[in-house]
Amino acid sequence: MDKVKAKHYAMHINGEWIGDALDSLNVTNPANGQLVGTVPNGGEAETKQAINAAHKAYQSWSQLTAYERSGYLKRLHQLLLENKEELAQIMTLEMGKPINESRGEVAYAASFIEWFAEEGKRIYGETIPSHASGKRLQVWKKPVGVVAAITPWNFPAAMLTRKMGPALAAGCTIIMKPSGESPLTAVKLMELCEEAGFPNGVVNLVTGSSSKIAGAIMKDDRVRKITFTGSTEVGKILIRQSADQVKRLSLELGGHAPLIVLDDANVDLAVKGVIASKFRNAGQTCICANRIYVQAGVYDQFVEKFAEAVKQLKVGDGTDESVAIGPLINQAGLDKVKYHVQDAVAKGATVVTGGEPITQDGGVFFAPTVIKDVDQSMVVMQEETFGPVAPIQKIATEDEAVKLANETPYGLAAYVFSENVAKGTRVIEQLDFGIVGWNDGAPSAAQVPFGGMKESGIGREGGHEGIDAFIESQYVSIGME
Ligand code: SIN
Repeated sequence: MDKVKAKHYAMHINGEWIGDALDSLNVTNPANGQLVGTVPNGGEAETKQAINAAHKAYQSWSQLTAYERSGYLKRLHQLLLENKEELAQIMTLEMGKPINESRGEVAYAASFIEWFAEEGKRIYGETIPSHASGKRLQVWKKPVGVVAAITPWNFPAAMLTRKMGPALAAGCTIIMKPSGESPLTAVKLMELCEEAGFPNGVVNLVTGSSSKIAGAIMKDDRVRKITFTGSTEVGKILIRQSADQVKRLSLELGGHAPLIVLDDANVDLAVKGVIASKFRNAGQTCICANRIYVQAGVYDQFVEKFAEAVKQLKVGDGTDESVAIGPLINQAGLDKVKYHVQDAVAKGATVVTGGEPITQDGGVFFAPTVIKDVDQSMVVMQEETFGPVAPIQKIATEDEAVKLANETPYGLAAYVFSENVAKGTRVIEQLDFGIVGWNDGAPSAAQVPFGGMKESGIGREGGHEGIDAFIESQYVSIGME
């Protein structure tokens, strides 16, 4: 932990730790407002240096065999597991996640590296039956080239490894740009990449101004691919900016997940599932249940049991092992949550538990909150809250649940609780969401596709699909005469 408290961290470009001469950005602990460390405020010049390095390294990295690249990734996987505790402590200090969740995230992050270390060996080409006896038709696979990965603060390890794992396995080199709110986990991850022995320039880390770094990336035609997790608003800007060079894009954007509890649900299981989904990372997760629709037959029973469970969740500094709900990331995050609750109450909803910020040790905490009798007119049912607030709306039929669930431009995750196979299947088939948890509040895993429909993104990360985004198909027609 001494390292975490050390004042200044560096960027990593072409095998060198650099950035001492630059001004720095503060990283503060949202649980108490204290300074955790500083990182260099890099911009266009440093990004260009990183692109130069990644472009040069690409020439040799892309020529290694899949088995050689897999060897580096396996070493990194092992190092992530060996350094799990230190990474988790850094994460909790810089962005407030309860320590047990941080440990879980490091294991989750490592699982992407392990998965893609293997998937890289399964990038198969094709031989296609020919229409002419003198031709052979083949599809060869090539890495897309230099990749830039721009990641959010809420999963500072896993969002990076979900991108770097497939990129590196496919033969791409990478420039990582972590969020300014939680870059120290990325610095530690970079240290582990160095220890794993990746050749210079294969993995680079740039910290600093998002607009300047993204601007330099967008201008440079050597960067062939952007992979981004963040808001839909920023995703749309990246789509526009990438148009000039037709850069490849993978986008994992905002969510506004509906969670449906039908009359035949196992209510205790539903309560457990909603707690897992809604309160993970204090509700600051793209796939968190954001609006809860409960059928009339189990509404009262669900609200009562759920509120009881929520009251048990301890709020506080995530370094305390018994804490379940840490702080929000910053004051703006807290203000948004407060506004969603106030708007719902002003329009007639009832707070069952919570409902207020908690002033504690200079941190930005909000009490885990249950609001009942909400309706679609309330902001909390229209926008992603990104906080520990569970709004519950009573619905009459499964058709109404489907209609309300789909009434959004977002399509990342949805949840259904029903013990009836036919009913559950019918409902899920009509939901326009890329991920569905059926009687499951925690569907994420390395081996499955993660991504959204509609304005929630483009492409899928994880699973066997996750590597496709880093590969180009090259069709080769071979004349044999
Ligand atoms: C996210 O919030 O985007 C990540 C959540 C997950 O991978 O489960």
